[in-house]
Amino acid sequence: MRRFLTYLSGLVVALVAPTTLQAKDEQMLDLANARGCFICHQVAADNSGGKPLGPSYQEVAVRYRDDQQAFDQLLDRVIHGTAYRDQKWEGKVAMRFMPPNVNVSREEAAALVRWIIDLDVDQKTVERLQRHDNMLRLSSLSGCNICHRVEPVTESRVVPLAPSFREIAGRYQVNANAKSDLVDSVLKGTQGGTRMWENVNMRFMPPNVNVRDEDAAALVDWILSLETKGLAKHARVPAQRPVKKP
Ligand code: HEC
Ligand code: HEC
Repeated sequence: MRRFLTYLSGLVVALVAPTTLQAKDEQMLDLANARGCFICHQVAADNSGGKPLGPSYQEVAVRYRDDQQAFDQLLDRVIHGTAYRDQKWEGKVAMRFMPPNVNVSREEAAALVRWIIDLDVDQKTVERLQRHDNMLRLSSLSGCNICHRVEPVTESRVVPLAPSFREIAGRYQVNANAKSDLVDSVLKGTQGGTRMWENVNMRFMPPNVNVRDEDAAALVDWILSLETKGLAKHARVPAQRPVKKP
């Protein structure tokens, strides 16, 4: 069936005026597939299915396409693998490093890297990816990462300190008042009398005293915009929100 579909898609491309771009894409997709790249990577930057093993090629394109040194560096990394201690995609992917791709010739690797860097990414996706990177940085600078992760914990024996940002999105996205409530929670902390989040190790969030109002608002906007497809269903928004008064 798979073979038949591949055959069919080849046929469609052949019939529907094959522009050079399509032909090149087909060729590179085949090569990446044959060399095992898709065991860990995908092309589209849609990260709704949990944490992927490696970054999507669109994300790689957005990060490096304006960087003149990128081609040589990426070529080297594809051939020799990436360093365990120098993670480039920490927090975004489930693997800490890429092993050397020993079955790829230098020419093939060069063609793949060129293709990845030049991938077409629509402006909306570019903005979404750049915002995500900026917000990850802000969250780390603001100390949120000490207790929060973006992705829910999947290891069954680990109880996280705090709910993941994706779970927070899952609980509050439908609620129209969510934004101001959550900004309040972030700035003033939560009270802990009524536990709002059951499956976490800390009973409440302390006030984040050195976070500016506008940064808290930007972080909450971002958290609420996170993809929630595929999340386990979460308890409803607590009726009483025991936020501390200033
Ligand atoms: C076993 C899994 C695996 C396979 C197979 C794999 N990669 Fe990767 N790749 C990764 C991971 C993990 C990263 C992110 C490493 C990091 O965070 O530093 C990565 C990163 C990359 C990057 C970005 C490197 C950077 O410095 O940002 C490129 C480009 C890339 N891979 C291309 C390829 C190509 C082309 C192939 C096939 C020839 C391939 N990968 C095969 C796991 C894999
Ligand atoms: C010291 C640990 C810690 C830090 C640092 C921290 N949080 Fe929290 N956060 C928690 C805990 C624990 C909860 C669950 C609170 C509860 O159940 O009352 C929480 C809950 C939240 C919620 C949901 C609140 C609600 O009303 O349901 C948001 C949003 C949030 N945190 C965002 C942030 C942001 C943004 C930052 C960084 C500026 C941050 N947190 C820093 C521990 C922390």
